[in-house]
Amino acid sequence: MKKIFGVIGDPIAHSMSPAMHNDLFDLYGIDAVYFPFHVSKRNLLDAVKGLKALGVSGFNVTIPHKTDIIAHLDKVDPLAKAIGAVNTVKNENGLLVGYNTDGPGFVKGLEYMAADLGSRSALIIGAGGASRAIYFSMAQAGIERIDLYNRTPGKADELVSSCPFKVESNVIGREAAEKSLAEYQLIIQTTSIGMVPDTESLPLSPENITQSAIVSDIIYNPLQTKFLKEASRKGAAIQNGVGMFVFQGALAFEIWTGIFPDVERMEGNVLRNLGG
Ligand code: ATR
Repeated sequence: MKKIFGVIGDPIAHSMSPAMHNDLFDLYGIDAVYFPFHVSKRNLLDAVKGLKALGVSGFNVTIPHKTDIIAHLDKVDPLAKAIGAVNTVKNENGLLVGYNTDGPGFVKGLEYMAADLGSRSALIIGAGGASRAIYFSMAQAGIERIDLYNRTPGKADELVSSCPFKVESNVIGREAAEKSLAEYQLIIQTTSIGMVPDTESLPLSPENITQSAIVSDIIYNPLQTKFLKEASRKGAAIQNGVGMFVFQGALAFEIWTGIFPDVERMEGNVLRNLGG
């Protein structure tokens, strides 16, 4: 019988996940289909009950439901529980099990760029939901030093103190971050600064970025933020938010099917979608 997958969120019309996953089902000859489901906050519980009752095989969860859904699942993977957000659900013999592939997907994307991640010291800019998933996953992956800079330092302090994995971290201010950028071999921008329409904004001065750094920005609209352009000018290797999106999808696909898919093909699919 054809399997059904999907993504729930609000808004959902512009989600790139259906095209990406349906293409993979075709590629691997899997008899399945992936739909976008528009689910408002007040309908979340009914939607989850419906998806379960209908025997849907799995689904992604996006804004604004990633945290609220946890209360409605039968089981939640420990990393997702620690992060406090689920973006992937699998129906395992009638039980809905939640996972987070955003953070691990980000780390996997980084691993494609550099083999020696563990020994690199990292700076994360921002302390919101995306930062939390990335910070916890990087700590779990064994990156030894991860400093944080956030406009509101208290939120960065809370993030660091709630992490269950061993990692050295300092919460630093803007001036200290700007001055010490050369000391970080990984610089990860997780705020919305630089996103369309505010494309001229920078989260901090990139002046001291060096060519030995990998600089990553989770934004993919535009494909190159001003921060990434400046980092590239300094000779750093850069990565935009398409990587994180593709790898979260790849890990979700692997959870559902057991197949780790062709990420280059997925990236091409997403870029076509963004270009169109
Ligand atoms: P997400 O889930 O995408 O991470 P979020 O949880 O709302 O979104 O987090 C947004 C992050 O971007 C926060 O770190 C926020 O800083 P504050 O904690 O100080 O609010 C940061 N951010 C957003 N707009 C910003 C701006 N104009 N200047 C500085 N930081 C900003």
